[in-house]
Amino acid sequence: MFQTPGCLVSSCDNELVLRIENLRAYYTSKKGIVRAVDDVSFDIKRGESVGLFGESGSGKTSVALAIMGVFDRMSRYYASSSGDETTRHLWELRDQARKKGLTSSDMNEVLPGVEGHIWFKDKDLLALDEKEYRKIRGNEITYVPQGSKKSMNPYMTIDYQTAESLWAHDEKRILQERQVIRRVLQALDLVELADVDIRKDFKPTQFSVGEDQRVLIAMALITKPALMIADEPTTGLDSGVQQRVLAAIDLVRKELSTSMLIISNDQRLIEWTTNRVAVMSAGRIMEFGETNKVLKLPGHPFTRAFVMSNPTMEALRRIREKGLVIRGIPGSPPDMTSPPSGCRFHPRCEYMVPLCREKVPDYREVEPGHWICCHRYEELPEF
Ligand SMILES: Nc1ncnc2c1ncn2[C@@H]1O[C@H](COP(=O)(O)OP(=O)(O)OP(=O)(O)O)[C@@H](O)[C@H]1O
Ligand code: SF4
Ligand SMILES: [Mg+2]
Repeated sequence: MFQTPGCLVSSCDNELVLRIENLRAYYTSKKGIVRAVDDVSFDIKRGESVGLFGESGSGKTSVALAIMGVFDRMSRYYASSSGDETTRHLWELRDQARKKGLTSSDMNEVLPGVEGHIWFKDKDLLALDEKEYRKIRGNEITYVPQGSKKSMNPYMTIDYQTAESLWAHDEKRILQERQVIRRVLQALDLVELADVDIRKDFKPTQFSVGEDQRVLIAMALITKPALMIADEPTTGLDSGVQQRVLAAIDLVRKELSTSMLIISNDQRLIEWTTNRVAVMSAGRIMEFGETNKVLKLPGHPFTRAFVMSNPTMEALRRIREKGLVIRGIPGSPPDMTSPPSGCRFHPRCEYMVPLCREKVPDYREVEPGHWICCHRYEELPEF
């Protein structure tokens, strides 16, 4: 069984719905390979909600795309439109490696695409072919993408769009129309859409942004998935609407025992909706543990700086008590075509020493289930 110190996975496999091990996801660009996700490991238990929390560009959506099995296709699509010869060659090498079952290191090349393991129940998703993946994608694992309007067809009614994934995964053609209608109404009801009986025949343009977001959640839950990924589900919504979307997510988890991966850079959302959280910066997990512990007493310098850059009421209280200063994270996220050596946070870290530049820190379990990736954890001042 999988046992390396760098992997933040639980030992009790029966409970696990998802187990990601040493995930790597690289894009191509004209500037070179974009190392969007590197050596990322975490797991999600049955009925649990885990957060991916981090600044913009840290690789959160890329992790989701890898789980959904669309990362390679999407990055290849963008790459092919660039017409760049080197990029085309790199994707050819990737295809050759995959056919031979080889990794980048076997080939002695830095190749684009996804590597590592994504275990969903007892299957390694990265070993599945597209036909097998299609049975899981949009059915057992669903995705509420970032930016709701773009993800819906403006010309089709929402009941049709919500029913689509049920029909698509009904391979044996056993579902009857009235059953599907009932499931659609139940799903839209669960996300508390008003006047469902009438408004199910509306098109997305006839809904507010917050309602759209809840319809997307209904679409993602109608198949009763084992895992639902929600990518920035409340971004751009005002606070009243955010509350309703959060309530919808919470209801889904309680009613259907669906495991959740909630992706966000909003501390409040992560605090309200998740049990455990992985804090990401520059394509790596910096800290992982129970949400209330990680956000209340962050141990990693990045988490501390990130939490302090947009503090919650609780953090503000502590800041005032301890006479700390509120400030943003210095500098900007690194260029991921040439990420910093050693600890990827080192150019922006006030505690950096030469070792931080030279060596990638190991993960250390500072208390049961709470992992931190920092050379100097023990020496840091109390938060
Ligand atoms: N199609 C692409 N081609 C090349 N690079 C990409 C592509 N999509 C994303 N990237 C780069 O990959 C890195 C990770 O991006 P990603 O979208 O996963 O971050 P994120 O954490 O989801 O950010 P945000 O919070 O802004 O949504 C960034 O450096 C981004 O610029
Ligand atoms: S390893 Fe070094 S640079 Fe990285 S967070 Fe820790 S102290 Fe800062
Ligand atoms: Mg994103």
